[in-house]
Amino acid sequence: MKRQPRSSPRSAKPRRSVSIVGTGSYVPEKILTNAALSTMVDTTDEWITTRTGIKERRIAAKGEHTSDMATKAALAAIEQAQIDPSEIELILVATATPDMYFPATACLVQQKIGALKAACLDVSAACAGFLFAVEIAQQFITSHTYDTVLVIGAEKLSSITNWTDRNTCVLFGDGAGAAILRHRGNGAHGVISTHIGSDGQYADILFMPGGGCRTPITRENAHQNLQTIHMSGKEVYKQAITAMLRASKKALDQAGLTIDDIACVIPHQANVRIIEAIADRLKIPLEKFYVNLDRYGNTSAAAVAIALDEANRSGRIKAGDYVLMVVFGGGLTWASTVIEW
Ligand code: ACO
Repeated sequence: MKRQPRSSPRSAKPRRSVSIVGTGSYVPEKILTNAALSTMVDTTDEWITTRTGIKERRIAAKGEHTSDMATKAALAAIEQAQIDPSEIELILVATATPDMYFPATACLVQQKIGALKAACLDVSAACAGFLFAVEIAQQFITSHTYDTVLVIGAEKLSSITNWTDRNTCVLFGDGAGAAILRHRGNGAHGVISTHIGSDGQYADILFMPGGGCRTPITRENAHQNLQTIHMSGKEVYKQAITAMLRASKKALDQAGLTIDDIACVIPHQANVRIIEAIADRLKIPLEKFYVNLDRYGNTSAAAVAIALDEANRSGRIKAGDYVLMVVFGGGLTWASTVIEW
């Protein structure tokens, strides 16, 4: 189908094109299987597989932090993009598990890759963070502020997981994914549409109550697991489907495409049942979805970034394909992006 972008305030003027010119990802070596988890909490491989689709997840090594994983993913993306780190003008790290409150994890990545001309900041939008960062990057590029931006999603969720809570500990894993976004001449393939959104009314269905200024961790509360993920699983499940469907439709509509034009959907990797529900409601075959949550679990902001890199490097997405990425996360937050690869 010939694409006819809908007019919107943002597309009223000819847009400066933004391409993804390199991707990279990294997951830690250590594998934690469902069988191993079932020796830690009261669960089974059968329960985890049928309720989530997850078979195993990766766990960062002792001393391996979010910035280390982010750096490895970034270097792979830089290599594929064939650029020098000195060309990067902005580094965005989407994460809910920064190395420290400050400096930003993006500054730590900057130091490690030697991208010393870049401005650096972290993006806090939980699992939706990578696509929020893609949106920020493309705004800076289309506004002619920067030409080359490094976008990373990286998480060490094992550091905020309550390993005694079977409701949550079976879901999460560690890893990082990265992309280099660049203006490479008008008419080039690239980001066609982006959509981001939030609903703070649901802030309390997925959150980490402790560790911030509201409830600092003290000697008295240190054993209450306040510095771990708290989640109302059923409510998140319901909201995730609604948010991802709405976000998919928005990005497609803005791009002037229908779901039939999409060669590959890269969704947030939280639960295969959420992905199946979306496939069913969008009326597209499940085979169009790129799924790797069986191997990594939910790596939050890293999930869609790792999946994008795998889909790219494996040839699952090819030049000219329309790719829809769609995510949701704590906040609630949601985001979607359509790219012509
Ligand atoms: N092993 C065995 N039993 C379990 C486990 C487990 N690991 N976890 C929960 N159960 C039990 C529950 O205690 C419950 O038992 P009960 O009936 O005796 O009370 C029973 O299994 C059923 O629990 P449900 O909550 O009904 O299970 P459900 O089918 O809803 O699946 C799940 C739970 C997998 C968490 C699902 O709700 C889900 O995927 N929700 C979305 C989670 C998600 O996407 N989170 C994203 C986080 S994104 C971010 O921003 C970090």
